[in-house]
Amino acid sequence: MTRDEARARIDHLIAEINGHNYRYYQLANPSISDFEFDLLLKELETLEREFPELLSPNSPSQRVGGEITREFETVFHRYPMLSLENTYSESELRDFDARVNRLLQGSYEYVCELKIDGVSISLIYQDGLLVRAITRGDGVRGDDVTTNIRTIRTIPLRLTPGNYPSEFEVRGEIFMPRAGFDQMNRLREEEGEVAFANPRNATAGTLKTQDSQLVARRPLDSFVYYLIGEDVAGESHYERLTMLKSWGFKVSDIKARCAGIDQVLAFIEDVGRDRAQLDFDIDGVVIKVNSIAQQEKLGYTAKSPRWAIAYKFKAEEAMTRLLSIDYQVGRTGAVTPVANLEPVFLAGTTVKRATLHNADVMEALDIRVGDSVFIEKGGEIIPKIKAVDYAQRVAGTPETLFIQNCPECNTPLLRAEGEAAWYCPNELSCPPQIKGRLVHFISRKAMNIDSLGEGKIEVLYENGLVKSLADLYDLTYDKLIGLEKIIQEEDKKEKRISFREKTVSNILSGLEKSKSVVFEKVLFALGIRFVGETVAKKLAFHYRNIENLRKASLTELITVDEIGDKIAGSVVGYFSDPANMSLIERLRNSGLKFEIHEKPGAKGNALAGKSFVVSGVFANYSREGIKETIELNGGKVSSSVSSKTDFLVAGENMGPEKRRKAEDLDVKIISEQEFTQMLG
Ligand code: IVH
Repeated sequence: MTRDEARARIDHLIAEINGHNYRYYQLANPSISDFEFDLLLKELETLEREFPELLSPNSPSQRVGGEITREFETVFHRYPMLSLENTYSESELRDFDARVNRLLQGSYEYVCELKIDGVSISLIYQDGLLVRAITRGDGVRGDDVTTNIRTIRTIPLRLTPGNYPSEFEVRGEIFMPRAGFDQMNRLREEEGEVAFANPRNATAGTLKTQDSQLVARRPLDSFVYYLIGEDVAGESHYERLTMLKSWGFKVSDIKARCAGIDQVLAFIEDVGRDRAQLDFDIDGVVIKVNSIAQQEKLGYTAKSPRWAIAYKFKAEEAMTRLLSIDYQVGRTGAVTPVANLEPVFLAGTTVKRATLHNADVMEALDIRVGDSVFIEKGGEIIPKIKAVDYAQRVAGTPETLFIQNCPECNTPLLRAEGEAAWYCPNELSCPPQIKGRLVHFISRKAMNIDSLGEGKIEVLYENGLVKSLADLYDLTYDKLIGLEKIIQEEDKKEKRISFREKTVSNILSGLEKSKSVVFEKVLFALGIRFVGETVAKKLAFHYRNIENLRKASLTELITVDEIGDKIAGSVVGYFSDPANMSLIERLRNSGLKFEIHEKPGAKGNALAGKSFVVSGVFANYSREGIKETIELNGGKVSSSVSSKTDFLVAGENMGPEKRRKAEDLDVKIISEQEFTQMLG
């Protein structure tokens, strides 16, 4: 295929894929199967690999991310990102309407929309292509987060042809749907990472992430609600929303044109009643004057437009009593205080418990057992205690003192400098820590022993059969057969766990199978603090085996990509404990893998004396894997393109900067295929 033919085919594929993406993500009405869609995408990716110079940052293949942004560039907004005047009351809303009425002196109409509880974004398009995405920042300047925003499927990278001006801006909100948020948090907890408090925090945290591949895996979504530019058509806001939709943006269908303030209030009431049914969080309704000419007439104050206002819902609150405080010990030993409350109905559920987070939060509230407390369900999923009604406190109620000893094993608790949480340091004998480690070890992303589960681990532990992870591999048929436990569940149902013939044989074969689990997963399964799935992979590929990792010093560890002080300190601490070393020894003797499986024939001299830079994602190698292969074959790898570079190996989603630099310096750009051929 010639370059021109490839260009034509790539353009055609991009238009087709964009159309299917729009049908799938925005209309929820796909016209081809996932398989057919993947074929189109694969064809595009293959062409872009063969002709890296034809790869555009707006290609739909770029949705998977790739670039690591070291620091976001701060850029000025062309039009400042204003905020909205807020109100919580009907009477203030009527005051707003009276002001609009006075200033306009004629008839007017409002558009009511949902106030999405996410993170606002400004999207800049030139000639139908997304060129920049900027966060609100201080309203005048924000961060350029384009690489991250490109990964969000509902943000068009290239617009559906229409009457859009050559340059314009769109304002909207990035958010995380609740279902995706819950699933992501479950995974984070499974991996021993801290869960996000609510979808908005998760969205903000994700957009600040420097690794756009990680952003691509997070379930972010978008709505747009405002179009600005010099030559924008459309005489009303509503018309412009319709135009935005036709160009490929996601615009909420929940909106209304209202002839007067009473219709606005009716819309607010409807939304308030049904908001729990939405799959995303909103915190109110935005009311805008519909006519653009009238908007211009009303103008702006220094902070906000006079033609719009936000009506915010009050967080739902209830009052109840604090009955007692429990202290829960997690897998890593962190102690979390939990409030037991007199049951109270709040926003659709009966609330009996609320987290108190940590000792600092408890102290700031000065909360005491017996107190009347206000609980609130805002954006947060778990209700929180907002305030204590001190006036109702019975005189003489004793102050709450955070426990000093572990509620499970009585070991004195410790608190590390600068950390909010108290820890039980008795890793080796504190029951919830032991059980938590075992449950983590068998989990799907670790050793994946699905014939064991939390309930069975509990039974094994109570019967004194497992304490250390290594004890799992000493289990035998005779030790397991006949074990039984009846568990009373919270809803009073009974659950019986019995170790019959079939269960036992499944457990033993599951354990046997786990001996072939790869090193990076074994490393993750050990449950070293802060070593999640991704970090374990990084460390395993970098150090190749547990011996090398054990010997790595703090200063050496932090030179590894994405390993900071906190993780490095935890790894060094783990290996300096003789108990952990003997655990690894026992696991190794049981047959677990503690080294990367080297592919045979990977070594050679074919690349001797050549210097490489790699960029993008590869089909047959991980990023570490390809670097490793270069080194094993005598080549050198550097991170940036210079006049000394011989080859730039271009993967999918190669950074455009690297490509430009390679072209400027006449560095040869090769595909993954060509690279494999070089190895012979
Ligand atoms: S209009 C000049 N519409 O609320 C008008 N804002 O304090 C620009 N928001 O920063 C804003 N949903 O992040 C508008 N349907 C909606 C919105 C919305 C959420 C956010 C936005 C803005 C904040 C206003």
